[in-house]
Amino acid sequence: MPIAKAMTSMLQSGPLIREAAATGNSRVLATLLGPAYRGLIQQRGKIENATELQVAHAVHFDWKYRREFPEMQRIYTAAKRSQWDAGSDLDWSISVDPQSPQQLLIPDSYVPPSTLPIWQRLSPAERADQRHAMLSWLLSQFLHGEQGALFAACQCTEAVPWLDAKLFGGTQAVDEGRHVEAFHTYLSTKLERLYQINDNLYVIIDALITDSRWDVKFLGMQIMVEGLALGAFCSLRPGTQEPLLKEMLKLVITDEARHVHFGVLALKRFYKTELSEVERREREDWAFEVALLLRSRFLAHEFYEDYYAHLMSRAAWDQLVLRSELMELFRRTMYKRLIPNLKAIGLLSDRVRPRYAELGLLVYEGGKAAPELAANDLL
Ligand SMILES: [Fe+2]
Ligand SMILES: [Fe+2]
Repeated sequence: MPIAKAMTSMLQSGPLIREAAATGNSRVLATLLGPAYRGLIQQRGKIENATELQVAHAVHFDWKYRREFPEMQRIYTAAKRSQWDAGSDLDWSISVDPQSPQQLLIPDSYVPPSTLPIWQRLSPAERADQRHAMLSWLLSQFLHGEQGALFAACQCTEAVPWLDAKLFGGTQAVDEGRHVEAFHTYLSTKLERLYQINDNLYVIIDALITDSRWDVKFLGMQIMVEGLALGAFCSLRPGTQEPLLKEMLKLVITDEARHVHFGVLALKRFYKTELSEVERREREDWAFEVALLLRSRFLAHEFYEDYYAHLMSRAAWDQLVLRSELMELFRRTMYKRLIPNLKAIGLLSDRVRPRYAELGLLVYEGGKAAPELAANDLL
């Protein structure tokens, strides 16, 4: 990689590294530095066509086949009964026209620059093109996240100690494979546009896939990334007028609700019974770092490069996106789910509450955690 490019990436990633050090927990920082180097400086998710990472987690066999987790058995049964086929249960004959004024892919308000005077000067076709690009960017990030979820589900299935969790994990791996199929088919045959993975999303996925502790994989994927994804799906679904996408998101949301429920069940037990206080605190700090990353780091830079890099600085763009209606809605939807889940698994102690309070996030703590929510509540 040319040095100049590496330097630019390093300077741009400064705020992220500062955020990653916010809790002052050096172990947390250490687990994030390798992924941050690969994602932000080397930009491996962007530069490589395929990335290979070395992983080293313990695999846990249970020769006694004990079934002792009734609530997990219930969601396993629900998962088996709720399987669907991305190939035949969605109507792929629906044609999607990104230029259609009757069926907007997303409203103008979901494109952050729509509040600027320049938006008014665009032709209807140019606006449609940007709505198309913004949706493609979002769905591409979903797709990359789903690939990460597929791998994480496989790893967790190997590593988790309880048989009931392994059985559920098998269904989750199938679900995530189906989500990869659905999003990829939609992007490649309907939108015909695919964006590369966002650097910060790469960092989070790399971090949880390479971490050797199964519960950190669970925490990262089932609670944090799935929480982010659910927030994004639930924000996007009411906004789109495109019927195929609406239906696809509904089916995916139903699956994801089970996955988050699974994560809460597993971690609630593990964090309350198996971890020392020092270990629990480390998870608490890790979750806070990732919550910060999720909050302010998905700023559609790939879209910006295509349409606005010649018009405004990246700092001005970041401010625009952070204050946009889409981000506002998305943050609200995400944290409404995430905070009660962190509380349910015991990672919202008095020690970290002031940090969440400072971000204005404690207002969500009275909400329902995943085990108390049905998929219909989310829809
Ligand atoms: Fe998924
Ligand atoms: Fe999932």
